[in-house]
Amino acid sequence: MTFEEELKKRSEEVQEIIYSYLPEEKGYQKTLLEAMNYSMTAGGKRLRPLLMQETYRLFGGSGEIVKPFMAAIEMIHTHSLVHDDLPAMDNDEYRRGKKTTHVVYGEAMAILAGDGLLNLAYETACRAFAMEPENVNIGKALAVLAQKTGIGGMIGGQSVDVLNDGKPLSGDMLDFIYRLKTSALIESSMMIGAILAGAGEEQVSRVCSAANDIGLAFQIRDDILDVTGTQQELGKPVNSDEKNNKTTYVTIKGAERAKQDVEAISARALETLADLPLKNVFLEKLVRALIVRKN
Ligand code: IPE
Ligand code: IPE
Ligand code: MG
Ligand code: MG
Ligand code: MG
Repeated sequence: MTFEEELKKRSEEVQEIIYSYLPEEKGYQKTLLEAMNYSMTAGGKRLRPLLMQETYRLFGGSGEIVKPFMAAIEMIHTHSLVHDDLPAMDNDEYRRGKKTTHVVYGEAMAILAGDGLLNLAYETACRAFAMEPENVNIGKALAVLAQKTGIGGMIGGQSVDVLNDGKPLSGDMLDFIYRLKTSALIESSMMIGAILAGAGEEQVSRVCSAANDIGLAFQIRDDILDVTGTQQELGKPVNSDEKNNKTTYVTIKGAERAKQDVEAISARALETLADLPLKNVFLEKLVRALIVRKN
């Protein structure tokens, strides 16, 4: 099997796991549940649960315990996208090849669908306790999930991001925003994979550092694609950053330098992974594929 075929197969398996944790659309709150499922089933690369599963495998994990956490991280990520697209934030009308949640269901329902997904994520992750009541790593994983999503992670990063629309930013400030708004969820994904597989503290911290770089490179590539990609390939509008007068890695350093930096930062992540006592060749190939991804 080629890497592309293997990636497709594994992403489809991840998707099945995610689907198994989605709510049934029934009751008086049916519209809310439809709006939540609309964004969750619209597509997407499923990168974060995939990274979680592959890091779990890297440390020898082979159980079921990772599954509710895989669904949870994708719910949190999807919540961040639904809210990121709102008129008050980036005001975008397409996501994952479809109209955004607020365009289809209205703004109030999109806000609630985002909230609903964020909360359902923790409800879902907590199901791991019933699967292995004695496993102390579940509590540790849950703490990482909450911390990296919150004020010191994704939500904190998004707040600094939107507050600085239209303002010039130093490289340091931009780096701070990217490490929070994007790297934090990738750190959380990979750290949880490692923690649930029983990795020790030092190894989890190495995984965190590799994930931090993978996330930074991922966001810089996202900035490049906003300028060089097509809506067809991306499933979301191009030139969204320009529309919002955003200072991005590309506006500061230019697209060419940005591409070189994506390579260098990803190479550093791969070196950090190579220092671990165990190996996952598929994970390494995935990190390399992200450098030149088209969506
Ligand atoms: C988009 O993430 C938001 C960023 C952090 C750049 P993805 O590019 O992973 O979006 P999906 O999940 O594939 O739609
Ligand atoms: C968003 O960054 C990162 C999130 C936490 C959602 P962007 O605003 O650049 O993401 P896209 O380009 O809309 O996917
Ligand atoms: Mg944004
Ligand atoms: Mg956006
Ligand atoms: Mg973007």
